[in-house]
Amino acid sequence: MLGIIAIASGVLLPLGSLASPFVTPVGPMDLFKRLSSGCSTSGSASCHNSTVQSDLCCFESPGGLLLQTQFWDTDPSTGPSDSWTIHGLWPDNCDGTYEENCDSSRDYTDIAGLLEDQGASDTLSYMKQYWVDINGENEQFWEHEWSTHGTCYSTLQTSCLPSGSAKGAEAVAFFETVVKLFKTLPTYTWLANEDITPSSSKTYTLSTLTSALKSASGYTPALSCSSSTLNSISWYFNIKGSLIDGTFVPIDAPESGSCPSNGIKYPPKSGSSGGGGTSTTTSGGSSPTSGSLPSKAHLTALTSSGSSTGGLLSAGTWSTQTLATYTLAGSASSFTMSTSKGKCAVSGGELTCGSDIDSASSFSASQPEFQQVSSGGNLVLAYGGSTAWTADASPSGATQETVYTGSSHSKDFTLVITSA
Ligand SMILES: *[C@@H]1O[C@H](CO)[C@@H](O)[C@H](O)[C@H]1NC(C)=O
Repeated sequence: MLGIIAIASGVLLPLGSLASPFVTPVGPMDLFKRLSSGCSTSGSASCHNSTVQSDLCCFESPGGLLLQTQFWDTDPSTGPSDSWTIHGLWPDNCDGTYEENCDSSRDYTDIAGLLEDQGASDTLSYMKQYWVDINGENEQFWEHEWSTHGTCYSTLQTSCLPSGSAKGAEAVAFFETVVKLFKTLPTYTWLANEDITPSSSKTYTLSTLTSALKSASGYTPALSCSSSTLNSISWYFNIKGSLIDGTFVPIDAPESGSCPSNGIKYPPKSGSSGGGGTSTTTSGGSSPTSGSLPSKAHLTALTSSGSSTGGLLSAGTWSTQTLATYTLAGSASSFTMSTSKGKCAVSGGELTCGSDIDSASSFSASQPEFQQVSSGGNLVLAYGGSTAWTADASPSGATQETVYTGSSHSKDFTLVITSA
C-alpha cells in the first residue's frame, strides 16, 4: 500500500534519555516514574531492520510506523484556543495497515486513577488540558486510546516490564510517552510563527500549511480536513528501543491526509479572538503568553508560600548560589533557552542545560518549547503550557535540586523571568 519510508535525515528525538542514570534521591512515588525498559536505543529503528528481530520487547513490531495524531476541534471547541490537542499515538504496520484492540485482558478502566496512583499526576493534569474529548468524556477517550491502540505495542506487553511492576504500569508509560512526544510537536505555534493563525474568513493552501510545518519541524506531516476545514494532523515516527523510553525518529508522512489542495479553512476555537489577539485563559489556569522577551535573563524561584528562594544555575538546577544568565531566543509564546553549559531542554520531565543536549536531543532542543506567561504580576517561565515546576526540596547552602516540569514532586514553585 505504501512505498519504502526513508528516514529523512537521521535526526533523533530521545525521550527520557537524560533522566538516567539517576543521581538524585528518589521518593516512593518516583520509583514508579522510573520505569525503565533496559532496552538499547542504538539498534535499528522500527520498520528499518534488515534481519528478523527476536526481542520484540525492545523492537516495536509489527506496529513500527507511529502516528502522533492531533485534533483541531472547533465545533464544539475543545482544549486551549492556542493549541492543538492530543488524539493519540498509533502503531501502524510498516506498510500502513494496522491492528487494533490487541489484548482485551488489559482494557484498563480508571486511567486517571492509574496515573495518580503511579506517580504520574503531572501527566494527568496535562492530559486534562491537552488530551480532551470533544464531548467532555475524557476518561472514556483515554480508555479507548489505550485499549484500541496502546495494547498493540509489542514493547508494552506486560512480559516486557521489570518484575514487580504495578498493574497497568505499561499503560502509565504509554500516556507519559504520548504527552512527552506531543510537547515536542507544537503544531499551533509552528503555524503561528509563519503567520498562519485561525481565522473565520481566511483560507489557506495545503502547500502553505505543509511547508510552514516542514520548515519548523524538518518533516512533512499529514493534514486532514472535514469538508474543507482543517481538523487533524498526523506526525510520523519510527522508534528505536521501547515505547517506554525509546528514541523517536521523525519521518515524513508516507501518505498525505484528506485536505484538499486549496481553500482550506482553519477556524478559531470559540472564545478565541481569531488570530493576533489575546487568547482566553483556559480552565487549567494557564494565562496568555505576554510581555516582550528579554534576550538575557535570570530565572528566580518563587515558592508557593510567595517567598523567593534562589533560582537556576547554568545546568538548569535550582540553588541559592549566584544565578546563571540564560539566553532566550524566539518570542514570548515560543522560545529556546541556553546557558554557558549549552542548550536547555526538558527531557524525561527534567529541565537540563548542557552540551549533550545539542547532540542527544537536537530535535527537541532546537525547537522553541518554552513560553513566557504573565502570572501574579510577574512574567514566569512555562513549558508545554504549564507554569508549574517542582523539586524534591528547597535548596540551601551549596545544594542543587533537580527541576522537574509539572507538580509531581514535593516542592512547588514558579520561575520568574527577570532581565539580566
Ligand atoms: C524485522 O523484524 C520483524 C520482527 O522480527 C520481522 O517480522 C521482519 O521480517 C524483519 N524484517 C526484515 C527485513 O528482516
